[in-house]
Amino acid sequence: MTDQTQSSPQPTGTDRVNKRVAMLGAGKMGSILIEGLIRSGRFTRDQIAATVQHENRAAKLAERLQVPVTTDNAAAARDADLIFIGVKPFTVIDVVRQIKPVLTPEKLIISFAASVKTRAIEDATELLGMPVVRAMPNTPAMLGAGMTALSGGRYATVQHLQLAASLFESVGRTVQVDEKHLDAVTGLSGSGPAYIYIILEALAEAGVKVGLPRDAATLLAAQTTYGAARMVLETGEHPALLKDAVTTPAGCTADGLLEIEEGGLRVTLIKAVMRATERARVLAGG
Ligand SMILES: NC(=O)c1ccc[n+]([C@@H]2O[C@H](COP(=O)([O-])OP(=O)(O)OC[C@H]3O[C@@H](n4cnc5c(N)ncnc54)[C@H](OP(=O)(O)O)[C@@H]3O)[C@@H](O)[C@H]2O)c1
Repeated sequence: MTDQTQSSPQPTGTDRVNKRVAMLGAGKMGSILIEGLIRSGRFTRDQIAATVQHENRAAKLAERLQVPVTTDNAAAARDADLIFIGVKPFTVIDVVRQIKPVLTPEKLIISFAASVKTRAIEDATELLGMPVVRAMPNTPAMLGAGMTALSGGRYATVQHLQLAASLFESVGRTVQVDEKHLDAVTGLSGSGPAYIYIILEALAEAGVKVGLPRDAATLLAAQTTYGAARMVLETGEHPALLKDAVTTPAGCTADGLLEIEEGGLRVTLIKAVMRATERARVLAGG
């Protein structure tokens, strides 16, 4: 079987979606998504309801997001057409069991919990034909610069996947992958912002070390990272070619790159993604 990988262009369309949303587990990522969906203009606040675990959190979140927030997953799911699941991986199946009595195959479950397979969710619904889409977003979704990979379960149609993709496009780019790749996606782009923050922090520290004011060093590091990422995305050139364009023969960059290779940055990053991917493979099991 060949891989089904399709990436989206930049976010498009602001067509209103005439469906009701339940965000079960509106923590960091769930709140980002609610805000993105509203900002996109495709949903109004009265189309969205959310749940959390703790009553006191529910009240605070309701005030912040201006949507109803409760601790009753089944009630929120009953009134919804699109049911997002954003609790921690080990809680996903419990939540699916809670909402089981109100599920119908006309609804769509979209889980963005790491590690939990669509099949485990389908089985927990005990409903033949329940469509499930699995997504792996990342935190830059907060600024509309997120990266989300999506994969459909056994009963998810092309239309379900397109709908799910269009929702995540309200917070960034999307790509469709085979589900077997989603743990790798978690290890690369799900955890990836943390790796990049370390690189940024190190570059800023380096700037201070060579005499730059801290603010300037952080700006130089962050804008350089942003610019380099845009060069890769927008020119479509291989990163190695773009690197060569910065590296004048016998110039300064070549000396810097020598240090990077000697320090093992490349191997370290590869190992980081491999370790995070392995962890994602077992996370749902606790
Ligand atoms: N953060 C990321 O970068 C990221 C990226 C991709 C995917 N994810 C996935 O997103 C999920 C959530 O991560 P997060 O970082 O957003 O964590 P989080 O901030 O801790 O959010 C989890 C939320 O789930 C709520 N919750 C717990 N048990 C619940 C229950 N039984 N019913 C309803 N709500 C319940 C919690 O409520 P309380 O607030 O009341 O405790 C909390 O609001 C995880 O599965 C993770 O794998 C996260």
